[in-house]
Amino acid sequence: MLDFMDITKDNVHLYCRFDKNFEDDLSNFQSRIYPKNSDFFVPMIQNGLLRWSYLFFDGKIIGAIWLEKEHHSLPCATLGIFIADKEKRSQGIGEEAINRYIQMYKEQLKLTEVNLHVRKENIRAIKCYEKCGFVTEQEFEKADGTKALSMTKSLARRQSPVDFAKVS
Ligand SMILES: CC(C)(COP(=O)(O)OP(=O)(O)OC[C@H]1O[C@@H](n2cnc3c(N)ncnc32)[C@H](O)[C@@H]1OP(=O)(O)O)[C@@H](O)C(=O)NCCC(=O)NCCS
Repeated sequence: MLDFMDITKDNVHLYCRFDKNFEDDLSNFQSRIYPKNSDFFVPMIQNGLLRWSYLFFDGKIIGAIWLEKEHHSLPCATLGIFIADKEKRSQGIGEEAINRYIQMYKEQLKLTEVNLHVRKENIRAIKCYEKCGFVTEQEFEKADGTKALSMTKSLARRQSPVDFAKVS
């Protein structure tokens, strides 16, 4: 069973276990395993700009997920995720984690959109994001020549005929 464990100043030291995973494997898929402003994560969380959690599966920490806003006035956040435990990939855990995490925090973070960047060759991740409703906005080349996609998921609720009836 998948669960989330908030990252706090008391348990953030456990995160360093992923540094080795990053060197050995995760760096093939992503350039960062920390939120952009992780050095200031306590005030970022207090100010409603960040949610950052361990992914906890069957009693074990297997990875992490975060939603990070650049500024209060912006209704969008960047999603970051990784499953460090290779054996736990491609079983639908990523899809469940992303869907549940966005659902849990979209109101608190006041989001109408979630964005991410993914390397074009990372088919598994792209497939996972598509299952969660992300669509490709743009293809671009990073400074090092890597091809990447910018993907976005809109959280804006479509107006139903009932909503229209309420305002008219
Ligand atoms: C990206 C990641 C979080 C996705 O989580 P996940 O639990 O593996 O994803 P899911 O199982 O929900 O979805 C992956 C899908 O890709 C499919 N897939 C896996 N490898 C594939 C391949 N080579 N070609 C096509 N499809 C593939 C899986 O079968 C699954 O689809 P399905 O549910 O229709 O069978 C996880 O794989 C991971 O941490 N990877 C390493 C780090 C990484 O890539 N991070 C993201 C950087 S942007």
